[in-house]
Amino acid sequence: MKIAIGNDHGAYELKFEIMKYVEELGHEVINFGVDSAESVDYPAQGLKVANAVISGEADLGIALCGTGVGISMACNKVKGIRAVVCSEPFSAKMSREHNNANILCMGGRVVGPELGKMIVKEWLNAEFQGGRHQRRVNQIMEIEETGTLK
Ligand code: RB5
Repeated sequence: MKIAIGNDHGAYELKFEIMKYVEELGHEVINFGVDSAESVDYPAQGLKVANAVISGEADLGIALCGTGVGISMACNKVKGIRAVVCSEPFSAKMSREHNNANILCMGGRVVGPELGKMIVKEWLNAEFQGGRHQRRVNQIMEIEETGTLK
């Protein structure tokens, strides 16, 4: 798969670890993030990852900031994005299987590199299960589209 990665200064070290690992898993990485500790605003970094996923340039995205929280909020403002913040592998796996999450967010000040890799592995290896989960994901998208549910 093609994986878009973006980050702010709070996660540039984790980004390098995750990029290398994602490539080792056999995926192609597109790096939209910053490569240093120089302070940048996370919304613009999240937007780049979200746009890459929505345009089809990338199949999935990984967005990192200090906590993973701010960048996930920014990603989730883009129509069609279902970004999830994870700091453990179980939720990461379920977010693909049940929620069809298309961006994984993590915090460089929350998870260390080894835990981060475990989370990424579970997330990338999991597949959306469809069925009743599709109905619920459709409902999320209906709320996004119309502000309510029929
Ligand atoms: C930057 O200091 C920090 O606020 C950012 O990386 C992130 O944690 C926001 O949610």
